[in-house]
Amino acid sequence: MTLFEPFPLGPTTLTNRLVMAPMTRNRAAADGTATPLMAQYYAQRATAGLIIAEAATPSLTGRTYPNTAGIHTDAQEAAWRTVTSAVAAPMFLQLQHGGRVGHPTTSGRTPLAPSPIPLPDPIHTPAGREPAVTPREMTTADIRTTIDDFAAAATRARSAGFAGVEVHSANGYLLHQFLAPNTNQRTDAYGSDRSRFVLEVLDAVSDAIGPDRVGLRISPGNTVNGILDDETLYPHLVREAARRNPAYLHIALAVPESPLFAQLRAAWPGTLIANPLLPQGRIPADGGRHAAERLLAAGADLIALGRPFLANPDLVNRLQTAAPITQPQDRYLMYVGGPRGYTDYPTHQ
Ligand SMILES: Cc1cc2nc3c(=O)[nH]c(=O)nc-3n(C[C@H](O)[C@H](O)[C@H](O)COP(=O)(O)O)c2cc1C
Repeated sequence: MTLFEPFPLGPTTLTNRLVMAPMTRNRAAADGTATPLMAQYYAQRATAGLIIAEAATPSLTGRTYPNTAGIHTDAQEAAWRTVTSAVAAPMFLQLQHGGRVGHPTTSGRTPLAPSPIPLPDPIHTPAGREPAVTPREMTTADIRTTIDDFAAAATRARSAGFAGVEVHSANGYLLHQFLAPNTNQRTDAYGSDRSRFVLEVLDAVSDAIGPDRVGLRISPGNTVNGILDDETLYPHLVREAARRNPAYLHIALAVPESPLFAQLRAAWPGTLIANPLLPQGRIPADGGRHAAERLLAAGADLIALGRPFLANPDLVNRLQTAAPITQPQDRYLMYVGGPRGYTDYPTHQ
């Protein structure tokens, strides 16, 4: 089994096992519509077996940062269609509600979260970095509306030409805030069973577009955005999610020798995408190939890479031929607009 063999993912056949991880790059227009530059960026990276496009919000309230994409208006759906039609690889769209990771200066709305506990850090807004605001605790009606928004966004993503969607339950955004005890202090059924909201979102999205077109991304133990996880919840979540037969489970920052990775692999009979934990800063000189192969050996089916794809549009060919790897430029370039540090990474000659 190698990285460069085809793999069937639901109704789609991937030409290889390398997946471009979802990466927010803040190149959408102010109204959350995808831009021609984004189409060019993804088209450049279409040798990936699968591209998981950046987080797109299913509602204005769920918007995280300036110039992030949305998938809740007709204009956003139409703009995404121009992206998917320009890209040769199958694409899933990641659906992300920010929860407390949002700001009225960005969205015009008070953020919603499981409990009224603010993000500990300031947050990037169109006016620069601002202190986080205390989110409003979601009512049962807010929960219902948000679940419906996810389902509607999934339907729009399919109409826009995506092969499926990835439900973002990682990295400290709304779904992860429901999973973690320090951000979910509810006393209702969504607090006594912290997996419940994620599973209800999964059910609604699966009902909308079919479970074989839905993935779930988790990042157990990731402390980003002020999350303190209870890792013992994940085997339960994964077993329950597996009963719904989604297209895949995607584990971010996966460590092949960790007991939790083995436990989750055992709890998940379906397709597993693993995103290896690579060093921060410089990426490995082999582009992550060694880390990818270790995860395949530990039972992953597909390997997601983020920064290696960001800086190497032809990453698959480079890994296959052991060609030199370009390092991502200054981190700052990841979050600003325009082609610099975005579409100007060279193809290996
Ligand atoms: C610029 C940038 C933006 C990211 N945006 C997202 C995102 O929108 N959704 C998500 O789940 N992860 C996001 N991530 C995390 C990546 O998907 C990935 O898990 C992380 O970069 C580690 O993989 P790597 O070492 O191969 O880059 C982002 C990472 C980077 C570097």
